[in-house]
Amino acid sequence: MALSFELSANPNPASEAERSAILENPGFGKHFTDHMAVATWTKDAGWHDGRVTAYGPISLMPSAAVLHYAQEIFEGLKAYRHADGSIWSFRPEANAQRMARSAARLALPVLPEEDFIASLRALVTADQAWVPEAPDGSEKSLYLRPFMYASEAFLGVRPANEVTFSVIASPAGAYFSGGLKPVTLWISQHYARAGAGGTGAAKCGGNYASSLAGQLEGIEHGCDQAVFLDAATQTFIEELGGMNLFFVTKDNRLLTPELTGSILEGVTRSSILDLGKELGLDPQEQRIEIEQWKDGVASGEIVEIFACGTAAVVTPVGELRWEGGSTPSTAGAAGGEITNAIRSRLLDIQYGRVEDTHGWLTQL
Ligand code: COI
Repeated sequence: MALSFELSANPNPASEAERSAILENPGFGKHFTDHMAVATWTKDAGWHDGRVTAYGPISLMPSAAVLHYAQEIFEGLKAYRHADGSIWSFRPEANAQRMARSAARLALPVLPEEDFIASLRALVTADQAWVPEAPDGSEKSLYLRPFMYASEAFLGVRPANEVTFSVIASPAGAYFSGGLKPVTLWISQHYARAGAGGTGAAKCGGNYASSLAGQLEGIEHGCDQAVFLDAATQTFIEELGGMNLFFVTKDNRLLTPELTGSILEGVTRSSILDLGKELGLDPQEQRIEIEQWKDGVASGEIVEIFACGTAAVVTPVGELRWEGGSTPSTAGAAGGEITNAIRSRLLDIQYGRVEDTHGWLTQL
């Protein structure tokens, strides 16, 4: 039976003045709305007890399995306010399906797609005042973070018999504090993010935890993010900690690393493969060696590079650095022409400024 998410309203919501101040300049991931959606799964009863309740601390035993064995997955998507005030999400069914794949990999229960979308709708309906207005040029939205974790208090290593699903919401502006400035990337040679047969294709917290040491190393070298290579040979480009990568060549190919099982299949990545074709590019998914990046920039074969993800949308990549070397930037001060055309096209669809010919939008 489909879950219903009944609302118990937060008795102490943020005041209108507090909310307006936050929506004026939300940053990313710092502020949260008044409510959260929650549902419980038990081995005996399946999914039940859907609810929307006040956002606040969760009660978890110190022995909860997630705290010890990281049996946890999550998703990221956004709610966009269109000019007429209506609120939409972008390809939420793709997030629901990816969460189901992540669940299978982490031995968690699958939340049916209709329940996933119902949880988003219930939360966004309760907190609709938190969805920022987004006049042209602004990229404000309400970032939605569904997550699922092993809440059973048990220290044996086995799939949990009690699991919690929740959705929280956070008003969001640009992911990087510098706005649309090109990012500098560091090649992580000491650390891999994921290996063959591991969890790299699942959206689980462990992948992000394992990317942090590489990211820290990059920051120590003046970079914004790390690029991870394949764990076996340290030869092929995989992804950044939380974003996929694209390369534009001078003969209009749009290249991205093919999905090898250790790369996350980004919803933005797959949308850009479609949009690229519509913009006259030739999208290709293939193995790409890190040396091709260095040589391609040096020879002028690669003309633009960008990273993409729900949070970061499309972010131009400038310099690439490694121990003892770097490439010059291909991004100028604010990203190349093609990068910005893809970015604008995607945002125009998400904010309802052009027709959604793909059927990618779902009203919440
Ligand atoms: C997203 O883009 O939604 C992610 O989950 C990645 C993270 C860097 C915020």
